[in-house]
Amino acid sequence: MSHTIDLMGLQLKNPIMTASGPWAGDAVGIQRCIDAGAAAVITETISLEAKQRISPRLFCDDDGLFNTMLYSNMHLEEWEEELSTIDRKDAKLICSIWGSTASEIAYLSKKVEHMGADAIEISISAPIGSRNLRMLRHSCDIQEFMGAAVKAVDIPVMVKLSYEAASSPNFLRELELSGIRAVSAIDALKGLAGVDIENQRSLMPTYGGYTGQHIRPVSLATTAALHQYTPLQVVSSGGVLDHETAIEFLMLGATAVQLASAILCSGYGIITEIVRNLEHWLTEHGYSSVDTLRGTALRSLRAFEDIVPRSLCASVNEKCRRTECLICAQSCLQDAVYLDEAGTIAIDPDRCDGCGLCVERCPHGLLTLEWR
Ligand SMILES: Cc1cc2nc3c(=O)[nH]c(=O)nc-3n(C[C@H](O)[C@H](O)[C@H](O)COP(=O)(O)O)c2cc1C
Ligand code: SF4
Ligand code: SF4
Repeated sequence: MSHTIDLMGLQLKNPIMTASGPWAGDAVGIQRCIDAGAAAVITETISLEAKQRISPRLFCDDDGLFNTMLYSNMHLEEWEEELSTIDRKDAKLICSIWGSTASEIAYLSKKVEHMGADAIEISISAPIGSRNLRMLRHSCDIQEFMGAAVKAVDIPVMVKLSYEAASSPNFLRELELSGIRAVSAIDALKGLAGVDIENQRSLMPTYGGYTGQHIRPVSLATTAALHQYTPLQVVSSGGVLDHETAIEFLMLGATAVQLASAILCSGYGIITEIVRNLEHWLTEHGYSSVDTLRGTALRSLRAFEDIVPRSLCASVNEKCRRTECLICAQSCLQDAVYLDEAGTIAIDPDRCDGCGLCVERCPHGLLTLEWR
């Protein structure tokens, strides 16, 4: 069975790519992504202005990950040297670039095409620093900037979007007109790890990019919504952690997915694991190709206005006397949950308005919603 997909006219051997970032910040990292089985590797963002790294630049809060890394710390000439040493095997190499003028973007595009890139990803909306604010505020610049790249090269061009950019139909329309072939979304969300309240100090010295599992719901919604706004191919980034989360994005219409924080937290081996488990899952579930799976969950999503209200009420499946728990009672704004005379959890149907919170929160799955 074939797991190949078509992205912007490029044949990828599977839908698993690695996102732009320090895991693909030089030839060694890129080679490790390729050797681990990624179908396409996107370089860390290359610009004309190699950025010195600040230290520390990675912060964690519970399972959240924040970074204050802008683009690559290598010069264009060094990139040329690095890329020439890579054994590409059957993987595609996509160069992520950023320039602050249209002519800079055109120049970089030509350069990376010459260096052997199969495609270009323009990174326009990182939440770190102030480089992209102008672009997001003046949508008239987008066509000029992105069009400059498209006109300069023969290879396909895609654009990496922030949540904000991916949610703007006007912005997406301008992108379509510029001739780009796909969008990837979402980039990191702007975040701060917290405040040391004893010393009145932010835990991070500047705004960072918040990534990983907690941004997955935002990224899932963005993937699904992008299909309403644009006919461009969508590559999902943001909270892809394992083969099951990769499948979620594909079922919501993603052409392919990108791994980022997963590599930082679990190492390059996670790429191999996800590719293997995805292939196994597809075979086990009888999908003849990735294309037959793509977008299959979109039909279950409706506009809020189209949902017909149902008259449901919580009910208890199994007697519960866990008075040390009472999560259901604490969750109920209607005071509909009570202990009956026998000391078991009961629901007052006259008070219950079917919100579903007690059902979602019961740690033992003892509650359900049923028709009245
Ligand atoms: C440490 C770090 C550095 C990153 N550097 C870049 C970059 O140079 N260019 C870029 O477009 N995105 C960069 N990103 C964003 C990732 O490519 C990805 O879009 C984001 O992390 C969301 O995916 P995730 O939730 O799977 O991590 C970086 C992310 C991290 C965590
Ligand atoms: S469904 Fe909502 S209103 Fe009904 S009992 Fe549970 S929490 Fe209360
Ligand atoms: S939340 Fe569930 S386990 Fe806890 S008291 Fe209610 S029914 Fe029992």
